[in-house]
Amino acid sequence: MTTETLPALTPLLRERRSIRTYDDTHVLADADLRLLLEAARWSASAGNSQPWAFLVGRRGDAAHRGFVELLSRGNTSWAPRASALLFSLHQVATGPEEDALTYSDYAAYDLGQSVAQLGVQAAALGLSIHQFAGFDHDALAAAAGVPPHWRVTTGIAVGLALPDGPEADALLRERDHRPRVRKPLAEVAYGGTFGAALEL
Ligand SMILES: Cc1cc2nc3c(=O)[nH]c(=O)nc-3n(C[C@H](O)[C@H](O)[C@H](O)COP(=O)(O)O)c2cc1C
Repeated sequence: MTTETLPALTPLLRERRSIRTYDDTHVLADADLRLLLEAARWSASAGNSQPWAFLVGRRGDAAHRGFVELLSRGNTSWAPRASALLFSLHQVATGPEEDALTYSDYAAYDLGQSVAQLGVQAAALGLSIHQFAGFDHDALAAAAGVPPHWRVTTGIAVGLALPDGPEADALLRERDHRPRVRKPLAEVAYGGTFGAALEL
């Protein structure tokens, strides 16, 4: 099943996809970047622990140049053209600060949810995000001075989709047009018994 068969889904989700053809002339305005980070910041979290943080580099700045060096080979083919590269972090232990928040077992869940909010806000601004795990996590943690009680988790490319045209790399464009597929709902939504499909 693809999202094309779900006209009732909000367009912010129906038309979302992890694109690879970014417009490398688009500049992410400060106001838009701030709004994306606010969307993440206002996410729910266990006990309001807010166990997330973000590193941000915008195409053309020193942080971005450093981030690009750490991308996996596959992600180097598309991610640098996005307007910004963000890296998400979540807390994995209670910090040494006197007023440190106690580590929450739900920190990874909370970070994922905050990035989902960021993605929906990006869609509302006409922007596209593509999350990725393919980069050197340890090298980034060292380069960015990440304390040991935080874990670098995912990269998030943010930018404007390049309209269809000859400027877009043909291979990347083809990947951007493949149908998005998912497991059937019956394989992931159950009634009271795990594995027993929910009747809808
Ligand atoms: C945690 C995570 C790691 C991912 N890592 C990569 C990656 O390294 N490279 C890549 O091209 N896409 C990566 N993706 C994107 C997924 O491949 C993509 O979300 C999935 O295929 C579904 O496609 P859609 O987002 O367009 O619906 C990652 C997504 C997530 C959430």
